[in-house]
Amino acid sequence: MTDRIFSVAIDGPAGAGKSTIARRAAKELGFIYMDTGAFYRTVAYAALSRGADPGDQAAVEQCLASMTVTPQWDADGVQHMLLDGLDVSTAIRSPQVSQSASVVASYAAVRDFLLDSQRRVAQSYAVIMDGRDIGTVVLPNADVKIYLTASAEVRAKRRWLELQQKQAPDTYEQVLSEMIERDRRDMNREVAPLRQAEDAVLIDSSDLSLEQSIQAVVQVISEAISS
Ligand code: DC
Repeated sequence: MTDRIFSVAIDGPAGAGKSTIARRAAKELGFIYMDTGAFYRTVAYAALSRGADPGDQAAVEQCLASMTVTPQWDADGVQHMLLDGLDVSTAIRSPQVSQSASVVASYAAVRDFLLDSQRRVAQSYAVIMDGRDIGTVVLPNADVKIYLTASAEVRAKRRWLELQQKQAPDTYEQVLSEMIERDRRDMNREVAPLRQAEDAVLIDSSDLSLEQSIQAVVQVISEAISS
């Protein structure tokens, strides 16, 4: 153990199961779980609801000046996102917001706007943080870094099944092509692109069940805590 508060960075592409796995691992280990994608989603949602085109960088940057984005945790440890004090946690989950979040996340001004508040959480709590640039940029000194991935087809199938349960009309092909598009954007942007940190442990969940993936993550963290 270091004298800093223990921190875990989990990065990986869309639909790899990061949030479900990280939330369950955090509960098991008594850590706070923080989903950083929700921050980018909140900025995208703010831009859309103010009539700004997410593709218009100047318009999005202008919105930043007048918005506050704050994470909050309820008694069950569930993270909520507040935009200007209002809870937007449900609204930020739409497919439109997913694509727009990936677009606004490519702007340096948006990333700078969110960076400090994400780092502050790790200074105050033992945290498992997930996103795209946690091990590379947000917490480069994290005690444990995990890169969680799965094949695009497996990730799209899982996401499509989730959408089916919500009676969403999207076809598997649509979900797959949107996922590939989002990965391409997240991996190829100039600022803080998604990549595996050199010191990250790779976990490929393509052939693992959810429970097996959770246990693989818990094991990596537990070994680091006790070493
Ligand atoms: O994890 P998610 O699908 O909720 O993330 C939404 C988008 O936000 C994703 O396409 C890329 C961006 N993102 C990012 O650039 N950096 C992070 N640390 C987390 C998410």
